[in-house]
Amino acid sequence: MFLDICKKYPPTKDNLIYILHEIQDTHPQHYISEEAVQVISEYLAVPVNHIYGVLTFYSMYSTKPRGKYIIRLCESPPCYIKSSDIILRRLKSLLHVNVGETTKDGLFTLELCACLGVCGNAPVMMINDDVYGDLTEEKIDSIIDKLSEV
Ligand code: FES
Repeated sequence: MFLDICKKYPPTKDNLIYILHEIQDTHPQHYISEEAVQVISEYLAVPVNHIYGVLTFYSMYSTKPRGKYIIRLCESPPCYIKSSDIILRRLKSLLHVNVGETTKDGLFTLELCACLGVCGNAPVMMINDDVYGDLTEEKIDSIIDKLSEV
């Protein structure tokens, strides 16, 4: 499976980022495993250490299994001023996790991120590819409720 994804791209070092993206996006647990790194390393003829360097440099990559839904709450100042800390507290208490952790049922992973570019709707978070703005504690409750049902 990892090799099939690699083969969609010419085997040049420039394609490393694209391959990592696709492998992470298509994995049900949204992460890049040791096995995947090994396959990419052989395909691109790039040392494993270099790949781990890239993985640790960019915060969007994970080498640990994550939840079906990845919640990224913006922690940049415009969102903070609009009480993103209250939203964070609500998420932690609803999900019973700290930042960087995944719920026991494997459904949600809670992360923080920098500005998502929609500060006009602060406070803002993304869940996978969807943006949620003008967050309130009530909105958080209903979003989490809805996703927990699916
Ligand atoms: S600061 Fe949060 S979206 Fe820009």
